[in-house]
Amino acid sequence: MINFTDVNLSFTAGMNALNGVNLDISRGEFVYVIGKSGAGKSSFLRLIYADVMPTRGLVKVDGCDIRSLGRLQIPYFRRKIGIIFQDYKLMENVTVFDNIKLATDIYYKLRSEVKDEISLLLRDVGIFEKRDELVCNLSGGEKQRVAIVRALINNPQVIIADEPTGNLDHETAENIMQILNKLRLAGTTILIATHDDNIRQRYPAREIRLEKGKVISDAGVDSE
Ligand SMILES: Nc1ncnc2c1ncn2[C@@H]1O[C@H](COP(=O)(O)OP(=O)(O)O)[C@@H](O)[C@H]1O
Ligand SMILES: [Mg+2]
Repeated sequence: MINFTDVNLSFTAGMNALNGVNLDISRGEFVYVIGKSGAGKSSFLRLIYADVMPTRGLVKVDGCDIRSLGRLQIPYFRRKIGIIFQDYKLMENVTVFDNIKLATDIYYKLRSEVKDEISLLLRDVGIFEKRDELVCNLSGGEKQRVAIVRALINNPQVIIADEPTGNLDHETAENIMQILNKLRLAGTTILIATHDDNIRQRYPAREIRLEKGKVISDAGVDSE
């Protein structure tokens, strides 16, 4: 599903954010990407959603070499990927419902066509009653649940979460992990960059450890 072959990524000449990364992630796998700040976790995830291109090597997602994507194709490519960030990246002065509706605009669907699906997902994560609130009035945990629904609305094959619980207290983080774990059980491929040892112990899975842009270990229970 995701294949890295000899991947280097450098933002500034002579400094590699990623250095010789080789990895395969299968469909349905649940994977943690771990390592210290600056190790390359976000860079690794950004390559998967074609936010940056490798300086050297090959990144394939669902058989597609990301370098073959033209600028106009990237939004279409990203439909198969749901992305969740530590800082949510929601539109703060827009309602919960409209934040999610915006993510469906690539399909030019009418509000009435997506309303039921959005409502269903909002119910699933327990924030349906907040659908008409502005995002700026929500707690961190509520915002992250909105971000999860936004990531899910186009039925992605892959979920990428970059420190999704980084801004949340322990109990709220657990709640977010329960939601991600349900998706795992449903067969979605999930990659989570995290600093949180506690969630890794609670929900054990494959762990890819990066250090200075290199994979220094790749172990742990598989998603089976
Ligand atoms: N946009 C950028 N421009 C320049 N250097 C960057 C950029 N993004 C990341 N880096 C550098 O790449 C390395 C890996 O960063 P990053 O992938 O963000 O690590 P992590 O997510 O593990 O904290 C760091 O040395 C960081 O300073
Ligand atoms: Mg990061």
